Amino acid sequence: MTPLSKSLATDGFVKVPGFVDSNFVHNILNSINLAAQVRSSPFFRDLSLDQTESFLSDIWSSHFVRDFTASYIPSSLPSLMSSLMNCPSLILLQDTWFKRTTSCTTPIPWHHDQSIEGPFYSTWISLTDIPAASSLHFARGSHKSGLRYLPSSFFDTDSCVDELSAMESFYRSFHYSSSTDYTDHFCPVPSDIESNSDYDIVALPSAIGDLIIFNGLTLHSLPSSFTNSCGFVLRWVSAESVVSPYSKDAQIASDYLDVSLRSGEPITDDFFLRFNF
Ligand SMILES: [Fe+2]
Repeated sequence: MTPLSKSLATDGFVKVPGFVDSNFVHNILNSINLAAQVRSSPFFRDLSLDQTESFLSDIWSSHFVRDFTASYIPSSLPSLMSSLMNCPSLILLQDTWFKRTTSCTTPIPWHHDQSIEGPFYSTWISLTDIPAASSLHFARGSHKSGLRYLPSSFFDTDSCVDELSAMESFYRSFHYSSSTDYTDHFCPVPSDIESNSDYDIVALPSAIGDLIIFNGLTLHSLPSSFTNSCGFVLRWVSAESVVSPYSKDAQIASDYLDVSLRSGEPITDDFFLRFNF
């Protein structure tokens, strides 16, 4: 086991400094700026609380944005992920990005990424320097808890949908159901997670070009910004990973991407790039 795979297995996240060069960063930043300008993706969102565009995000810009760079996958990333995930057949599930300004007061709450059951990893590429106060935070080792966490607001069934912030609406659109089967499956993120010594919270600052790899079941969050920041994320699954029956991602993606994704089944549609090693 390499030091990298050992850290990822133990902590649930690992940073690889200087993984991409300035050329890659330049190309992706230009493409993200283009995506934010043309807004041609149905997944494009202004997630800022006050809708001032201080927090923009999109999914599958590479598919929906004409002239988005075709070189959006670092050449050595698929083989690295195949090795770290110990999986000879790797599938790219999606690309997404998060762009925030100094006036962004909107945090991404603590959560798991759980649209997939089985191996599911995110690779965050920092396109700006991101200091610890604004960077990805992780609960070290939380991928081994066996629990499926969602932000506590998810369980607040009394809230009128109109009153929800763009961020809460975003997460609800992918996960919410009033079914007790759902609410029994998930548990709320502890409200004291950042002060409770049971949780080892780590802020991971990053520099331009750094790569942060994390297991989707490692609890993570992104605090309010107060700095210009941008991250590009690729998400990876294995041939054995299946679409979670507790997520609406598959239904939403099937509609927008015109692909076949079925609850409880592996991802086999040709739309999703596959890398065999
Ligand atoms: Fe996430």
